Amino acid sequence: MSVPRPAAVIVLAAGEGTRMKSQTPKVLHEVCGRALLDHMLQAARDLGPERLIVVIGHARERVGAHLAETSPDARAVVQREQRGTGHAVRTALEEAGTIAGTVLVTYGDVPLLRAETLAELLRRHAAEGNAVTVLTAEVPDPTGYGRIIRDSTGAVLKIVEEKDADPGQRAVKEMNSGIYAFDGLLLADAVKRVSTDNAQGEEYLTDVLSILREDGHRVGAHVAADFAEVEGVNDRVQLATARKALNQRVLERHMRAGVTVVDPASTWIDVGVEIEADAVVHPGTQLHGRTLVEAGAQVGPATTLTDTRVGAGAAVRNAVCDGAVVGPGASVGPYAYLRPGTVLGRDSKAGTFVEMKNSQVGERSKVPHLSYAGDATIGDDVNIGAAVVFVNYDGVGKHRSVVGDGAFVGCDTMLVAPVTVGDGAYTAAGSVIDGDVPPGAIGVARARQRNIEKWVLRRRAGTKSAAAAERALAEQEQQESGS
Ligand code: UD1
Ligand code: CA
Repeated sequence: MSVPRPAAVIVLAAGEGTRMKSQTPKVLHEVCGRALLDHMLQAARDLGPERLIVVIGHARERVGAHLAETSPDARAVVQREQRGTGHAVRTALEEAGTIAGTVLVTYGDVPLLRAETLAELLRRHAAEGNAVTVLTAEVPDPTGYGRIIRDSTGAVLKIVEEKDADPGQRAVKEMNSGIYAFDGLLLADAVKRVSTDNAQGEEYLTDVLSILREDGHRVGAHVAADFAEVEGVNDRVQLATARKALNQRVLERHMRAGVTVVDPASTWIDVGVEIEADAVVHPGTQLHGRTLVEAGAQVGPATTLTDTRVGAGAAVRNAVCDGAVVGPGASVGPYAYLRPGTVLGRDSKAGTFVEMKNSQVGERSKVPHLSYAGDATIGDDVNIGAAVVFVNYDGVGKHRSVVGDGAFVGCDTMLVAPVTVGDGAYTAAGSVIDGDVPPGAIGVARARQRNIEKWVLRRRAGTKSAAAAERALAEQEQQESGS
């Protein structure tokens, strides 16, 4: 069924959000990788409105800057004083000009609201030819919400705020979500006629419903199937509840698309993450930002990926990766940290206690243990021994090192950048390599070993070491004299 495109969506986001007790404006708090406001804007965008308007007020510099950066398609309208929801809409219409067609009004703090639910509201609004259609929900505890007052035939008469309600009205369990579809021209006229004659001395948008009904227009309601969707976030307890619900929705979408999520309760996936079929996400994993996990890859346990691409069939365990690319079939961790600019080739390895930054690792190359690779270019089929450090920083600038195809870097080599180890070259274990090693050569850069006989017997007399040495030397002497 087609959905009538709204002429405009107006998102109210000028309120202070005091109960968050935060330096950050409420609508900029994040769940699942996106600000509360941006969840609403995305749902609004999915309806294809001609205009997207956001009413801002409290902390308008920060909210305005955020909008300019993330939603250039939205127009910010400043409501200087928060004189009520009616005043907010009036300000928007005065600034943006009167809008003919359907105007959807919603809030910036309802991250669970789906475009599908808004579409249902718009369909009913159009089908019934209403002047206004309000989205409502039956809730177990309507405390704090406006109540929907209907007549004996079920027709909506008005909305009464809790503070203005009598005990009979307070007993009503149908709440006003604060989300409405309006006829734009009728709204523009009616919102000017809203009074401040109420308990809070505010211009209530809810009064537009009774004004329009008294003018003889049709007023309708659409009851949301799931009340959780229209519940706003007012404090951090509700923020956590919304995050969990949204995360569950994201997990279900991936699972239905063929992704195995071993433990949904300990897995957190941002809305912008893509995961292909037959990938497996193990417990304790968080996938953030623009992360992409390709088919059949294994991610986790206990792994946090941000803006990272994991190739088909790769495995990333107990790792933190930020802005990294893990090639198909590659293996990462356990206990690895891949920082921005790390690109691991097909079937390569960044193993245990390995950190990498701005480094390329070629196909089938292995960095298995206890190494740091910063600003490194590592060719194909390279073996990097344990505890190798790409010494990239001289205290002033960063420099690159290159290790050619088929090279073998011995354990505990320090590669002091800028330096090149040629194709097929070796470095001896424990070397500090600060000059290039030609292809096929071995670079040895360490002091020659010298042994001082019986040093321990003289200088550590009476210790367990000295006793063990004495026994061994006596045994050796006996064998030598016996033979
Ligand atoms: C409002 C509704 C109430 C509904 C509830 C749902 C009115 C009079 N009441 O009450 O029936 O059950 O929402 O959550 O509309 N805002 C502005 N400018 C203002 C005032 C508010 O932008 O001057 C924004 C706020 O940022 C917020 C939204 O409008 O996002 C709702 O405002 P709030 O003060 O929370 O309204 P409620 O009293 O909760
Ligand atoms: Ca509210």
